Amino acid sequence: MIVSLLNCKVIIVGATGRVGREMLSILAENRIPAENISLAASSRSAGSVLKYMGSNLEVADLSAMNFADYEIGLFSAGREISCKYAPIANEAGCVVIDNTSYFRMFDDVPLIVPEVNLADLEKYNNKKLIANPNCSTIQMVMALKPLHDLFGLKEIVASTYQATSGAGQKGVDELMSQTAIVMSAKNVTPSHFKKQIAFNVIPQIDSFADCSYTKEELKMMNETKKILEIQDVKITATCVRVPVVVGHCVSVFVRFQNRVDLESAKTSLDEFNGVKVIDDPQNFEFATPIDAVSKDDVFVSRIRKHPADDYALSFWCVGDNLRKGAALNAIQIASVIS
Ligand code: A2P
Repeated sequence: MIVSLLNCKVIIVGATGRVGREMLSILAENRIPAENISLAASSRSAGSVLKYMGSNLEVADLSAMNFADYEIGLFSAGREISCKYAPIANEAGCVVIDNTSYFRMFDDVPLIVPEVNLADLEKYNNKKLIANPNCSTIQMVMALKPLHDLFGLKEIVASTYQATSGAGQKGVDELMSQTAIVMSAKNVTPSHFKKQIAFNVIPQIDSFADCSYTKEELKMMNETKKILEIQDVKITATCVRVPVVVGHCVSVFVRFQNRVDLESAKTSLDEFNGVKVIDDPQNFEFATPIDAVSKDDVFVSRIRKHPADDYALSFWCVGDNLRKGAALNAIQIASVIS
């Protein structure tokens, strides 16, 4: 229950998008009154209406909003919008929780997963702009944190299997339309994704940086270091788009500074707030993306020691990328600072 938001005026920027709509659902689940919530999107959506707890909330054109009317802005309308409007909102006294990657690696901007590094907020003078980490990063650090506390991270190799909703509504629409096209034995022409996504996987998310990693991979590597304060740990990531609507998976191999005890690893994961272990391979008990849809927890499965390395562990983690990977984490942050 996010009680602290009950009396706050909140604006959702990007309210018509996949993450914006998920934010609205979470606010409704927490019975935040409709009169405290405003919705903004592009001029294309201005005047449209979204249902909220029996009320109709009208979507306004972002460019016409007066941020002085709001205490909290939940931003999820893309990097350029955050770059332009977050400073305007801050100037007007509205605290911004930004879901885009724009501000995440700024030295003076906190990058927060409440269960993992909420205490870091105190280190920052400016608490008017807080960044929400990358979706896959959030779920991975939720699992890494208790293991780091136990054994000390040394090296991380991560591979992601990311749902199309991570690319916004256009990503989901393309998966759906391509699936129908393939099923009717016609040829697909990729549009939003660079390759066919239906019945396929794509080892590229976001554009390529000069170092041949994609920007999505660099987000995972750099943000994980910032959140866990592990600058000396070697991290590599490969980020892959898969034909799934909701639910990201990350396969993680970790080498630690200390010898691993498997049972303590499992116990510490299961006891960590926001993480649930589902791991009974004999009975085929492990998490898949569909199991994580609309759930708040990050699920960890397939936890196993490396057969030839007492210091290494592999696991599989799954989360709802729209909830803990985006909207829920942002609202959790908003609730602790309001
Ligand atoms: P709109 O629906 O009016 O285009 P998603 O990530 O699911 O694609 O959603 C992106 C969100 O960002 C949508 O709510 C979208 O609004 C919003 N958005 C995109 N461009 C702008 C803009 N120029 N000004 C305000 N909101 C924008």
